[in-house]
Amino acid sequence: MATVHEIAPDVFRISTMVEQAGLGFNQFLVRDEKPLLFHTGLKAMFPDIKKAVATLIDPTKLAYISYSHFEQDECGSANEWLATAPQAKIACGFVAAMVNGYDAFSRPPQPLNDGETLKTGKFSFKMIATPQVPHSWDACMLFEEKNGTLFCSDLFHQNGKTEATTTNDILPSVREAMMAYNDGPFGHYMPWTPRTRGTLQKLAALKPQTLAVMHGAAYKGDGAKALNALADVMAEVCGK
Ligand SMILES: [Fe+2]
Ligand SMILES: [Fe+2]
Repeated sequence: MATVHEIAPDVFRISTMVEQAGLGFNQFLVRDEKPLLFHTGLKAMFPDIKKAVATLIDPTKLAYISYSHFEQDECGSANEWLATAPQAKIACGFVAAMVNGYDAFSRPPQPLNDGETLKTGKFSFKMIATPQVPHSWDACMLFEEKNGTLFCSDLFHQNGKTEATTTNDILPSVREAMMAYNDGPFGHYMPWTPRTRGTLQKLAALKPQTLAVMHGAAYKGDGAKALNALADVMAEVCGK
């Protein structure tokens, strides 16, 4: 069963622990005039995630579906959501729309350029293009500007069962997960390129207060410091 926790005002983390995979999958529902879901989760999780969303909003009133990059845990049930919510639009990055979105989704997406803002009511979201961070050409992130929540996808991935939020230093468990993935069968989970540190610094400059992480606990605290520390961990583990 998916669990629901509010990680920032009207931002809810919907989480499913998948024991066989050894990690949790999180989606984020933003409750606003035009509700937004960041990450849909896998298609197989859709009925359960829809039930969790229904505890927060009327699922047929979902207005936006957004995600970082084209993978099943990011947008696997996008079409199920489009069928559920007749007004819903996929608000994804420009590259995501061009490379996969127009062909993969049952309605054309609404592409957002780097730096473009999406308003949902009381909240506004800045689209940040982050090519190859955490991975994939189409990668991007959303930054909620009112309370400083960065929807950072696979960055800060932590394995195992975690709290919904933490103020503790998550870098040791992030490093452990990076080591396990980088050296394990998944190999090169996240690339380290000459541009990676600059992209992480661009995210740090937003000074996020909450990091809405797809796998693991959401981090509450000095997001800029955490992103700069993550750059060092990634350089060490992913750059070899
Ligand atoms: Fe991913
Ligand atoms: Fe993921």
